[in-house]
Amino acid sequence: RTSAEGTASGKVILFGEHAVVYGSPAIAAGLDRGAHARATRLASGPSTLRIGDETVVADGSSSNDLERAFHALLTVAPALPPVHVEARSDLPPGGGLGSSAALSVAITRAAEALARGQEEDAAIEARVLERAAAWERIFHGNPSGIDAMAAARGGIFRFTRAEGARPILPRQDLALCVGSTGQPSSTRETVGLIASQHAKDPVLVQRSIDAVTSIVGNAVLALEAGDQRALGDLMNMNQLVLSGLFVSTSELEELCALARASGALGAKLTGGGGGGCVIALVPPAFQSDGTRDEAREAKSAARILDAWRGAEGR
Ligand code: MEV
Repeated sequence: RTSAEGTASGKVILFGEHAVVYGSPAIAAGLDRGAHARATRLASGPSTLRIGDETVVADGSSSNDLERAFHALLTVAPALPPVHVEARSDLPPGGGLGSSAALSVAITRAAEALARGQEEDAAIEARVLERAAAWERIFHGNPSGIDAMAAARGGIFRFTRAEGARPILPRQDLALCVGSTGQPSSTRETVGLIASQHAKDPVLVQRSIDAVTSIVGNAVLALEAGDQRALGDLMNMNQLVLSGLFVSTSELEELCALARASGALGAKLTGGGGGGCVIALVPPAFQSDGTRDEAREAKSAARILDAWRGAEGR
């Protein structure tokens, strides 16, 4: 074949961002929005990548991050033959929703499928995380791998650097509302900020990491028990710890407060922080499953969504 396609999911981190970089567990959930890529064979190199209006060539010594990331992804052994890739993400860039990881996984899947032809998907998938990691290291230095894992597998899972992903089976569906500050965030910067705090005062930062570890442990139990009130409280606690690590902003705090005041069971930033998005847990009574008072619920849900839309439009 002369062309092949690949897709990947965006993600939200439900609990444990940043602490996961230091070996703690975190919980992520795949989104139904994500990234898509199509790869076409080239007779000779260099490989090229088009995302929106920008076309770059794979170049390991470029000063452009995208050129180096694309090169890094292609040259993980076994190196991929020359390709042209057209990719797009349906997620806001720098929004903390895993746009960069989703692009890397979609691009890898398309280029691998083209290069390996009929090879089993499982063999391709084994290399996807490695290539995505090479790409992510260019953009943010020290990725834990949770974003690429979510992009590749979707679903809800617990993740640690040492053990990888373990699926979680929530007892009930979760309805999350995602609110954007409209401000881009740089995961590289916020991960770097915590690294410098850690270098200065490792004991203090470790205390926050330990707090997050216990929040995540309880969150797994709450998900499995279907205790959404506890889950909301744990989100609020996780947000407090993240603020204590200085990765929250006044806009993120305002959005969390707005969501809670509108009836959310809990709210927190998601991903790197310093901008980007907030997630809020919508109470089960606001979700319509056909067995409840749908009109009332629709109104309540609309109230939450309206409040959020207002905030998003700022
Ligand atoms: C970003 O989605 C999550 C962080 O923990 C960074 C990482 O784990 O690579 C902030």
